Amino acid sequence: MIIATAWRHCRFAFALGALLAAGHAQATVDLWDAASHFQYNIETVSVTALPTTPRSYKVKVLFSVTDPKISNQPWDIKNQLPFRSAGAQLTLDIGWNPASDFMNTGSNSGSFTPLTALGDAAAFPVRVPIIANGTLLPAAKECTAADCGAPTSVNPGGLNRYFAESTVTPLPSGTSVTAGRVALEGHPVCSGQLAGFPPDPCPPAAPFPAIPARSEAVDFSFAPTTALAAIIPDQRRPIVDINKCKACHDDKDHGTGVVPRLSLHGGNRNENLRVCVICHNPNQTDVPWRRAAIATDTPQNGLLIAGAEVPVDFKVMVHSIHAGGFRKQPFIVIGRNSSVNDFSGVRFPKQLRDCTNCHIDANGKGSFELPLLPGVLGTTIKTQSSYLSATRSIDVDPSNDMKISPAAAVCSACHDSAEVKSHMIRTGGASFATTQSAIGASVRERCASCHGPGKEEDVRKAHEIAGGGGSGADQRDD
Ligand code: HEC
Ligand code: HEC
Ligand code: HEC
Ligand code: HEC
Ligand code: HEC
Repeated sequence: MIIATAWRHCRFAFALGALLAAGHAQATVDLWDAASHFQYNIETVSVTALPTTPRSYKVKVLFSVTDPKISNQPWDIKNQLPFRSAGAQLTLDIGWNPASDFMNTGSNSGSFTPLTALGDAAAFPVRVPIIANGTLLPAAKECTAADCGAPTSVNPGGLNRYFAESTVTPLPSGTSVTAGRVALEGHPVCSGQLAGFPPDPCPPAAPFPAIPARSEAVDFSFAPTTALAAIIPDQRRPIVDINKCKACHDDKDHGTGVVPRLSLHGGNRNENLRVCVICHNPNQTDVPWRRAAIATDTPQNGLLIAGAEVPVDFKVMVHSIHAGGFRKQPFIVIGRNSSVNDFSGVRFPKQLRDCTNCHIDANGKGSFELPLLPGVLGTTIKTQSSYLSATRSIDVDPSNDMKISPAAAVCSACHDSAEVKSHMIRTGGASFATTQSAIGASVRERCASCHGPGKEEDVRKAHEIAGGGGSGADQRDD
């Protein structure tokens, strides 16, 4: 049985961690069992184009939360305790460009006016809070048949259906942004009165832990054929498979300690990588919580928090986190409330060079191979924000970002030595200080001419992975 004690290994100060620290080590709440009672449904998305310049859209999202363990009965998110307890949270995130790479450019109401608050990010999606600290907000409206149409199969009774609307202005304006993605994320609270849990698994008194309900996401078209039916199949290329991640991320000991399940950001974003990539896009760094050192920082932490931005682009961050035993430089991300997250101690419990531990490898073609698809963006290492002075200014315009060209960004996330980076620049044509508009123009990566399939330093062969080229042992015959 997976018990909540394993959560201590997460880098977040979960309520239960505090409980354990206080000496109540006998608490064994099975939060993942509790989570299996919550299914987030994005039932329909409807889009209306508005006659504005730049082009804006009204995006209307219909959603519900059902209990798959109890005949899909809908949760009453306005009144039932798990949603109206302190700490409960639910948010809709609306991002765009799933087909190439998420950028979310224009999410600040279509403007490039800098953001000013600690916690503001350079390339966030549009965020629509639904429940904040146990209170259903006015943005969420309970559906009538007139608002929401007929019930859908995930919630056939049509009860406890809600909708929220948001005006979004995706840039660049015009026809280049064709699709978006909506996520529903956040968590109920294990607060002692869950329906249908004999015996009730929640602690009898506060602090009550977050229930890591799986986040949900769907893609939608900005130009749907009928306004009410904007949901379309997933637009993004498949790269990794979460079931491969779960071989380790299962709350069990893999020889290097307990590997937590994929629940991040205080239990708000769980077990769905299609949600992570909306925010962990190439234009995103850890600038939100960077600032000048303050008196309560230790001298060492203060220096780290005030340091240079670190990319949180998934293709860089996930490699770097797991390459703790391989990289020359520590990978340190400044997280919420300016927490210092140093991943240099992570030891990958399997062969790091075997990319298929995470990547999809089908029909002799691995998603880890070069060349990258043309739409893959370079990774921002500097957003041109100013975060050390009294007037904070987070730059949300990606066109001035300083970037690493994309293949070099991927490979240098593990191969980070100065010699190899210099090889990437001199032999490979890469840059570690360029802009997106220069990539493919004055900066042209030539990696695939030597590291492409069948070439002398083929990525697959160099990492000693079987199969490939249509003749390998791993090849499927479909
Ligand atoms: C072979 C085992 C293994 C596989 C496969 C694996 N991981 Fe990990 N991962 C680890 C270990 C070990 C850690 C470090 C855990 C710790 O120290 O808390 C880790 C840490 C992480 C962290 C940081 C967790 C935190 O709490 O800060 C993230 C995020 C992560 N992995 C994502 C992924 C994703 C996404 C995949 C699949 C694409 C994946 N991992 C596949 C072993 C693995
Ligand atoms: C709504 C946006 C958003 C979503 C969704 C999101 N992240 Fe993050 N994440 C960020 C930002 C921004 C940072 C940089 C530090 C910060 O601002 O907290 C970050 C930092 C991190 C870090 C490093 C810092 C730390 O605290 O450990 C990890 C690991 C991480 N995210 C993993 C994930 C995973 C895995 C998912 C999906 C299950 C996910 N994130 C979903 C925005 C998001
Ligand atoms: C611990 C899991 C993990 C391992 C091991 C891993 N990768 Fe990745 N890789 C990822 C994740 C996560 C992404 C980003 C996925 C996304 O954006 O959806 C990624 C992205 C990439 C991409 C970009 C693909 C694209 O279309 O954007 C390449 C190339 C890549 N990895 C190469 C490699 C190579 C080569 C290896 C082995 C030497 C490797 N990876 C091992 C997790 C991993
Ligand atoms: C997830 C981490 C990871 C990523 C990402 C990664 N590599 Fe590797 N690579 C390794 C490891 C580990 C080895 C084995 C090195 C060793 O054992 O010393 C290796 C070995 C190699 C080798 C053989 C070098 C030698 O000395 O034998 C080449 C060439 C190589 N990688 C190229 C690449 C290229 C090109 C990319 C980007 C597409 C890439 N790698 C991405 C981890 C990674
Ligand atoms: C002209 C051919 C050529 C080009 C172009 C090229 N490489 Fe290489 N690369 C090599 C050779 C040869 C090695 C050495 C392999 C070994 O040591 O076994 C190598 C090694 C590497 C390694 C592993 C280094 C190590 O020792 O750990 C990485 C990573 C790498 N290249 C990345 C890149 C990237 C990224 C690009 C494009 C920006 C690139 N290379 C372009 C030929 C090339």
